[in-house]
Amino acid sequence: MATYDDPARTVLSDDGEAPAPAAPVGGDLVYRQRRPVRLWHWLNALSIFVLLMSGMMIFNAHPHLYWGRYGANQDMPWLEIGAHDDQGYLRVGPLTVPTTGFLGVAGGQHRAFPPLVTIPSSYNLAGARQWHFFFAWLLVVPGLLFWAWGVVSRHVQHDLAPTAEELRPRNLWQDIKDHARLRFHTGEAARRYNILQKLSYVGVIFGLLPIIVLTGLTMSPSTDAAWPWLIDLFGGRQSARSVHFICAALLAGFIVVHLTMVVLAGSLNELRSIITGWYRLPKERGQ
Ligand code: HEM
Repeated sequence: MATYDDPARTVLSDDGEAPAPAAPVGGDLVYRQRRPVRLWHWLNALSIFVLLMSGMMIFNAHPHLYWGRYGANQDMPWLEIGAHDDQGYLRVGPLTVPTTGFLGVAGGQHRAFPPLVTIPSSYNLAGARQWHFFFAWLLVVPGLLFWAWGVVSRHVQHDLAPTAEELRPRNLWQDIKDHARLRFHTGEAARRYNILQKLSYVGVIFGLLPIIVLTGLTMSPSTDAAWPWLIDLFGGRQSARSVHFICAALLAGFIVVHLTMVVLAGSLNELRSIITGWYRLPKERGQ
């Protein structure tokens, strides 16, 4: 076995003078995730799980979403989770879906989200808000530091930003087909994120996470007194709450796909890389 920096894999450069490291091949161990990425990733994963679970408990206090400024008795909710005659349901606009056993009614209790997925598990709005606000700071402060480090160290430009070539429709389509057939990159090409990975990571880091933070700030009375333009930006506090919820749902969808891809791509190798930094390049096909 060779590691990326292994002298055994060092070859002479073309001019025969200075030694140059050979490009790693399938089976080699390469250093793929730097320490700040790994640290941020796990802090962020912890915060996101606690925020999603405490957020669902806060939602349980009023399981209706509205557009605009007022909500409650003034407007019609566009989404609600509720119970009628002991049957749980989810209503989105004109569409109502029965959800007994998970949403609305679960384990004999009337609760929008069931105890299994909320923090705390018993109904406790004050407790959920304490969890939520504490972990919101743990999301925001390391997130800002990660952004700054990512730009200065060129992690963003080098590892996350898609290239013009990768964004060509033919390449995108090829990557979608490869994913559908579970044919992931091998050898040297596997050192880099593929284009679908890049797009989803950039979407999360520079799209979903900042919007979630901004809509959270918009709902907070003290921030909205200090920066009233936030309310206008999102078209009212109820709209900000709806956007906050939609982004949280998209984030939950990202996590499901992300974890599925980790398992399909080889969970032990993937976990080693995001815990220790070292990743074994998958062997080229046919080897
Ligand atoms: C326990 C759950 C999780 C596991 C096992 C996991 C695993 C991984 C792995 C293995 C990678 C590296 C992928 C590769 O090298 O190809 C990665 C990267 C990443 N994960 Fe996760 N992940 C988890 C939760 C999350 C959550 C909750 C988020 C939420 C936003 C997230 C966002 C990301 C992002 C943005 C990257 C790219 C980081 C970068 O290079 O800057 N992950 N994850």
